[in-house]
Amino acid sequence: MFDISQFSLKGKIAVVTGGGRGIGQAIAFAFAKAGAKVVITSRKAPDLEATAAEIKAFGGEAFPLPAHLGKMDEIKKMVSTVMDKFGRIDILVNNAGASPAMGSVLECNERLWDKLMDINLKGAYFISQAVANIMVKQGGGKIINIASVDGYNPEPGLSIYSISKAGMRMITRAFASELISYNIQVNTIAPGPISTKMMDSHWGHLPLEEAQKVKQTVEKMLPSGRIGNPDEIAGAALYLASAASNYTTGAEIIIDGGLLLGNHLSG
Ligand SMILES: NC(=O)c1ccc[n+]([C@@H]2O[C@H](COP(=O)([O-])OP(=O)(O)OC[C@H]3O[C@@H](n4cnc5c(N)ncnc54)[C@H](OP(=O)(O)O)[C@@H]3O)[C@@H](O)[C@H]2O)c1
Repeated sequence: MFDISQFSLKGKIAVVTGGGRGIGQAIAFAFAKAGAKVVITSRKAPDLEATAAEIKAFGGEAFPLPAHLGKMDEIKKMVSTVMDKFGRIDILVNNAGASPAMGSVLECNERLWDKLMDINLKGAYFISQAVANIMVKQGGGKIINIASVDGYNPEPGLSIYSISKAGMRMITRAFASELISYNIQVNTIAPGPISTKMMDSHWGHLPLEEAQKVKQTVEKMLPSGRIGNPDEIAGAALYLASAASNYTTGAEIIIDGGLLLGNHLSG
């Protein structure tokens, strides 16, 4: 009979990149509620500290660890700091990412390419590599990569972001296939539009009334009629972090309110 305690993360050490806000924060809250000790890491200490304080307020355990995760030296330092403190890593969520306005493929420059690829792809690859080596020695672990619906269909004006997210899906498959014999499961979550600072940046620069209009127009075009919220990603992350997903690897969970079905009427 199904044992609900499979969803418990009690005693697990989890690292959530970009855990100080948005989707990463929601995942960190869920993991902490399920009993994990959660390391949250990104560049900005105040976001991390505020999130850690919220987790402690509901009785969870969280450790803010500032790091620029597009830089190899900071990745190595972040992982070794976690190991010095906890001696193991059971769960890694590669969630940190950026999506600045880019413009046409006719215009994107090398600086933008490097900036995006460093955090969205190179960081995820080498954090996974460092953590996978630890998980191999431990006898297992879980890696969850946050891709995007843009990794399936390119979003006009966001070419480099879309390419990075398609690459993220392949990081999952490459690691999953090589690590399956070490009891390490590697999976992707591909969100659609989710209400976070990243999503709000599409209209955040506009005056309030205009911003609301743009947001409503976007929502009308979505099959679900609304933008999702970060908690709607956290449940899938909890499944993929838990023993309930021990037979799941190389998989992709698309959470997009039906966007990729592509059969909605626009209004
Ligand atoms: N929101 C959506 O609609 C949506 C849809 C599909 C996929 N996603 C993906 O979901 C993930 C989370 O995005 P979000 O929507 O929650 O956006 P967000 O609120 O902007 O969060 C992005 C996170 O990444 C961190 N980050 C960015 N650059 C970093 C760097 N160089 N080093 C370390 N951390 C860095 C940020 O923290 P600091 O600024 O402190 O570094 C922040 O915590 C991203 O991978 C994004 O591509 C989002």
